[in-house]
Amino acid sequence: MCRMACSRNLGMRNQRYYGTSRENISLLLNDFTYSLKSMNQGCQMLQGQTLQSGAASLPHDSRPPLLDFFAGSGLVSHALRPYFREVWANDVCPKKAAVFHANHPNAPFCLCSITDVNGAGLPMSTLSWASFPCQDLSLAGVGKGIRGKRSGLVWEWLRVMDEMPQRPPILTAENVLGLMSANKGAYYRELHLALEERGYRIGAMLLDAIRWLPQSRPRIFVVAVDKRISLPQNLVDDAPNWTHPTVIRNIAADLPHWIWWRLPEPEQPTTRLSEIVDYSLPCQDEPTSKKNLAMIPPAHRRLLEQCGLAAVPGYKRIRNKKQVLELRFDEVAGCLRTPTGGSSRQYIVIKKKDGWRTRILSPREAARLMGAPESFQLPGTFNDGYKAMGDAVAAPVAAHLAKHILSPLAEVCHDAS
Ligand SMILES: C[S@@+](CC[C@H](N)C(=O)[O-])C[C@H]1O[C@@H](n2cnc3c(N)ncnc32)[C@H](O)[C@@H]1O
Repeated sequence: MCRMACSRNLGMRNQRYYGTSRENISLLLNDFTYSLKSMNQGCQMLQGQTLQSGAASLPHDSRPPLLDFFAGSGLVSHALRPYFREVWANDVCPKKAAVFHANHPNAPFCLCSITDVNGAGLPMSTLSWASFPCQDLSLAGVGKGIRGKRSGLVWEWLRVMDEMPQRPPILTAENVLGLMSANKGAYYRELHLALEERGYRIGAMLLDAIRWLPQSRPRIFVVAVDKRISLPQNLVDDAPNWTHPTVIRNIAADLPHWIWWRLPEPEQPTTRLSEIVDYSLPCQDEPTSKKNLAMIPPAHRRLLEQCGLAAVPGYKRIRNKKQVLELRFDEVAGCLRTPTGGSSRQYIVIKKKDGWRTRILSPREAARLMGAPESFQLPGTFNDGYKAMGDAVAAPVAAHLAKHILSPLAEVCHDAS
């Protein structure tokens, strides 16, 4: 399964597993448990059991199989669960793995770098999802682009797909808007052509979590499907639609095998930011709150006094070489980020009896902003929880895509096979 694991780190039980998977490429892994205790030993698959079967021989579960690459805390696996059954997931971060495991205790998860994954040993799958790292594509990044050290891991994903005995007929890649907009679209074009070369037809959509949740989180979702699959007419438009802003239309214009995916518009979100705030949590002490409140620009301070809201979110930013706490008053949080420094955490300014107080958004509130259910566990420290949610995929967005495009596509793929 993992090159690293196979060659160096696995015990006898896993060697047997790997050997079996090499002998019979159609083996499907089932019913793994993952030992957190041994995480530091690399890719650990304990109590692995191989079944000589494909999806069709698992009558108790007819959901098509899913590979969840860069699975992080597992919100994609969570969101797709009604439609797909994860047969394999991976991430390199032990803390994210802890969150994944807490929420998907029976899912096969490989704690390893994608650079150590050997596609030849992966279970056959209908869908392969990759929310690959965004740091080289995000506006805040250093802009190394799709060949950067971190975002360039998307090529490792494609290398793994190439190594599989049979590439999954559906691929989905998710990333920040920079994938499409940076470098005049050249990064996206390179990815598109690489998928096209491998026999896929491709379309990208911009889906902003704000259509589902009180968080502004625009993300690009690329959906590629095997060219040999005939697409149901109801999944495809003959012209751009609400998921295709100008940046996508312009790039798509001269790309081969482009698909205008048709996705129904979601209903209006019903939850407002002030409704996800936990008012029982302690705010920062008075001097710290005061210091933060003093950073609010005068125009925002006036709006704060007039807005009538119980809680207002904001980020600290540098403006004219000065740190300011900028607020927004539309009952929507700014895009959650992975905290690497103080400025990347989102603040909430909360109305108390004796005036305004500040605090950092809690991991549970962050989870609510990602559409995770209250039962979604966030083990570890405050920072671990916040980080786990900061670069996750908003669950209802992934679920909407799965329900209306990926699952119907998987059905067609199944019928065609
Ligand atoms: C955008 S996040 C994915 C979030 C995830 N899909 C979720 O919903 O929580 C990118 C993930 O890539 C992981 N990652 C970074 N480098 C990696 C590598 N070399 N191999 C595997 N995973 C890696 C990070 O730990 C991070 O969790």
